Amino acid sequence: MPDWTRSRQLLDRARRVLPAGVTSNVRAAERPFPLFFARAEGAILTDVDGNAYIDYVLGQGPLILGHSHPAVLAAVERAMRRGQLFAGQHELEIEVAETLTRLIPCAEMCRFGVSGSELVQAALRLARAVTGRPLILRFEGHYHGWFDNVLLSVAPPLDRAGPRERPRPVPGSAGQAASVLADTLVLPWNDLKLVDALFAERGHAIAAILTEPMMCNTGAIPPAPGFLEGLRRICDQYGALLIMDEVITGFRLGLSGAQGRFGVTPDLAVLAKAMGGGFAVAALVGRRAVMERLARDVNHSGTFNGNVIAMAAAAAALAELERDDGAVYRQIEALGTMLMDGIRALAQRHDLPTLVQGFPAAFHVAFTDLSAIRDYREYAQHCDTERYGRFKVALLRRGVRVLDRGIWYLSAAHTPEQITRTLEAVDAAFAEVRAP
Ligand SMILES: Cc1ncc(COP(=O)(O)O)c(C=O)c1O
Repeated sequence: MPDWTRSRQLLDRARRVLPAGVTSNVRAAERPFPLFFARAEGAILTDVDGNAYIDYVLGQGPLILGHSHPAVLAAVERAMRRGQLFAGQHELEIEVAETLTRLIPCAEMCRFGVSGSELVQAALRLARAVTGRPLILRFEGHYHGWFDNVLLSVAPPLDRAGPRERPRPVPGSAGQAASVLADTLVLPWNDLKLVDALFAERGHAIAAILTEPMMCNTGAIPPAPGFLEGLRRICDQYGALLIMDEVITGFRLGLSGAQGRFGVTPDLAVLAKAMGGGFAVAALVGRRAVMERLARDVNHSGTFNGNVIAMAAAAAALAELERDDGAVYRQIEALGTMLMDGIRALAQRHDLPTLVQGFPAAFHVAFTDLSAIRDYREYAQHCDTERYGRFKVALLRRGVRVLDRGIWYLSAAHTPEQITRTLEAVDAAFAEVRAP
C-alpha cells in the first residue's frame, strides 16, 4: 500500500497559497485527496512519494499517445528554439489547419486557441452572429467549460433540476451572472421528441444546439440511434446551427472524431484535448460560410492563440495519430476491448452489478443494475457513486489511477501486460468494495 506522506505535506503547503491547494476546481474533489506528481512517461505516472500508477486519467483525456511522447517532445523542442510567440503568423498554423480540414468532416476552416472552454465561447458567438438569434439549447450532464453561460445543468441536484421534460438551467457555481439563464434552454440528452417539441415552440429564436456527440462527461453515453441525425434535421429545418463539442471525442474516437464515427456533420465543432499530445491547444473548425464571419465582424482573439509550441505539438501529435492509417486507434481498440471485457467478467465473478459502457478509447464504469445509461438523470438516480469512490481509492492503492467520475481513458502507450496488471487490481478492488 502506498505511502503518501510527501503528497500530504505538499498539499498542506499548497493550501496556504492556492485555494484548496489546486489550480483547477475539479482536482480538489479527487479521492482520497489531491496527490502531487513528480513525472510521467508512457502510461505510467509517478507521484512525489515514488509510487507508480498505470494511468487511465491521461491528463483528463489529452494524452492519447501517452505521457512524454518522444516525437512530440522532439518537435516542440526543435520549434521553440526558433522562438515561441510572434504575435504574428507562422507556417505551422497553416500546416495544422490543413491537416484538420483534411481529417474532420465539418472543417472547411479553423481557428486556434488554448482551451476548450474559450473556443466553445467563440462557437456560441458565431452562432448568434450568423442567425441573429439569442437562445442556445444544451443538454443535462454535458460539460462545455467553466464560463457563466455554459456551466449550467452539468451535474444538477435533481431536486433543483425541474421536470424531466422541461428542465430548469441550474448554475454550477456561485457568482454566475443570472442573465445567462434567460438565453439557455436545457433538455435531457437522447430524447429527440423533446427537442422536436421545443423547436416547434421556440425554434425561430434558437441560434444553436450545443452537444457533446457522445456524452463523455457523464456516463460515456453513446448517442441513441438516430439522435444526432435528428438534431441535424431539426437544425436544418429551423435554420439553427449544430455545434459539436468534440473537446474529448475529437481524435479520441478516431481520426475524423465523433462526427466521422457517427456520420453526422455539424456546422461547427470544437476540438482540443487529444489533438495536442499533452500541450495546451484547441481548435474551432467549421463551415466556411460561418467561419468567415471571423474575418468580418465576429471577434475572437488571444495572445497565445496559435503559439509555436502548441502548433508544433499538434502537428507532431496529428502525424503520430495518422501514422499507418491510424494504427494507434486499432491498438487502443484491441487493448480497450480486452480491458472492458475483463472488468465485466470480474464484476460477474464477484456478483457485483456493474455497467461498463462506451468505447475502448473512453469508457465508463458504474455500479448499477441498469443495462445502459441513456441520460444524466438515469446516471444520477441509479449509479452508486459512493461505492465507485471507494473502488477508485482501492485501485489507486494498488497502482491504478482512474478518475473519480467513472470514465477511463486509454492511450497508445498502454501495454497488454499493464492491462493484465490492471485487471488483477480490479479483481482485488472489487473484492474490497463488495462489502457494504
Ligand atoms: C466536452 C468538453 N468541452 C469543453 C471542455 C473545456 O475544455 P478546457 O478544460 O480545455 O477549457 C471540456 C473539459 O473537460 C470538455 O470535456
